[in-house]
Amino acid sequence: MTNQNDAARVTAAIEKRFGEHIEVDPNTPGLQEIARMVEHCTHRKWTDQAVEPGLLRLLCATALSAPSKSDLQQTDIINVADRAVRQSIVEQIHDMDWIMEAPVFLVFCGNNRRLRLMSQWRNKPFPNDHMDQFFNAACDPAIILGQFLCAAEAVGLGCCPISHVRNNAERVSEILGLPDWVFPFAGLCVGYPARGNRITPRLPLSVTVHTDRYDESRLPQLIDEYDHRRHEVQPYGKPRDVKRFGPADFYGWSEDKARQYGVDERENFGAFVRKKRFGLD
Ligand SMILES: Cc1cc2nc3c(=O)[nH]c(=O)nc-3n(C[C@H](O)[C@H](O)[C@H](O)COP(=O)(O)O)c2cc1C
Repeated sequence: MTNQNDAARVTAAIEKRFGEHIEVDPNTPGLQEIARMVEHCTHRKWTDQAVEPGLLRLLCATALSAPSKSDLQQTDIINVADRAVRQSIVEQIHDMDWIMEAPVFLVFCGNNRRLRLMSQWRNKPFPNDHMDQFFNAACDPAIILGQFLCAAEAVGLGCCPISHVRNNAERVSEILGLPDWVFPFAGLCVGYPARGNRITPRLPLSVTVHTDRYDESRLPQLIDEYDHRRHEVQPYGKPRDVKRFGPADFYGWSEDKARQYGVDERENFGAFVRKKRFGLD
């Protein structure tokens, strides 16, 4: 594969993703890696090919090489290898067959426990029992999951993150034996993809990238344009919750997200986090 080809892949993927043309200099180093990253796609169908344990360990090591807030290393990855254990987690989650079907299922956890234990062992005060502890411990696994996904895609695997492990966080926590100050951030299905990549359009960079100052002056128009651009290539199958919200003349991304969050979801998560002994003020 030549640099020219990689540059063309990057340009094409960015056009599909953001509806924007970016001129890519073929002499830019690392274009093959960039191409893979902009072509990212979540996968939910797998071939039968197993993921070698050695490869899985390599990916965990790669993921856990990501930067870590204050070098606190607040992420744990649980490989849910026992299918009965996985099944008991999936019982808390509906309509996601891809979890049981995936060759590998991991749960990425935030872990503020080690820091608290070390404070005790070193006989130090811990005057930091506030929201920032939870926030840091939630950001770390997010970064590490992202790096895992990137590394997995580099070796030809596909992944699907699963935030639904937090729908009944308490039960999942019990199943996985998570102690105080350790909580599930997200699951991750991993396997060899049975389908090719499909690039999901994102909001234009004019919405999400700012210079010097946050700007949403053209937001309604830009979201409307995005809804239509996305609809052209990836229309939604059927509207969510027609009983509650009625039909829609045009059903785009913003209508779908507004409906999705128009009903309660994980309203018990704050209580779960408090029960894990985090102070959230
Ligand atoms: C933290 C996180 C949690 C997610 N949870 C789920 C999930 O529970 N189930 C699912 O099918 N996809 C889940 N996804 C995948 C998103 O739906 C997907 O990334 C999004 O639709 C964009 O598609 P793309 O990744 O192919 O560009 C999650 C993604 C992230 C980053």
